[in-house]
Amino acid sequence: MNLKDTIRSIRDYPKPGIIFRDITTLLGNPRAFRQSVDELVQPYAGTGVEKVAGIEARGFILGGAVAHQLSAGFVPIRKKGKLPHETVSIAYSLEYGVDQMEIHRDAVLAGEKVILCDDLIATGGTACAAAQLLRNLGAEVVAACFVIDLPDLGGAAKLRGMDVPVRALVEFE
Ligand code: PRP
Ligand code: ADE
Repeated sequence: MNLKDTIRSIRDYPKPGIIFRDITTLLGNPRAFRQSVDELVQPYAGTGVEKVAGIEARGFILGGAVAHQLSAGFVPIRKKGKLPHETVSIAYSLEYGVDQMEIHRDAVLAGEKVILCDDLIATGGTACAAAQLLRNLGAEVVAACFVIDLPDLGGAAKLRGMDVPVRALVEFE
């Protein structure tokens, strides 16, 4: 099925001028959710990926399913102040704001093969910071995968510039 047709677009959310690409409609569609996870996983099956890192909040939903299907572990990258154990953090900027994200210091081991997963890449601020956080812990970021890329905002190019292979299932202008 055409995944793009299952994603809802909402004008001027959360700010005037932003077209919000809402994946709740994709997630609520059993065939679209299954297909999305299958397509995200497909290139990495059998490649020895040890962990999938998902970015709060929407990256948890997809990353958890991708990790399960790859028989990999799941690692949450969370907004500041949410993780209970010792963390490392990094500041990042968003299409509509500034924030800080954290990972548990012991969540990945040096040399572990990790895939980064989120619903969407826009400016790439979030994903580049997450990739840097994983690298700061010594992980090998073998790929980053997204349901949606907004290529006009340059995030995927920025991530590829960090030598992280990027895969996205659909694009919106
Ligand atoms: C959204 C999206 C990505 C990020 C992409 O998350 O899920 O994580 O923005 O934007 P960027 O490429 O410009 O950095 P958001 O920060 O809105 O958080 P949420 O998932 O908790 O709603
Ligand atoms: N995160 C950053 N930009 C976004 C957009 N346009 N739609 C949904 N999530 C986003």
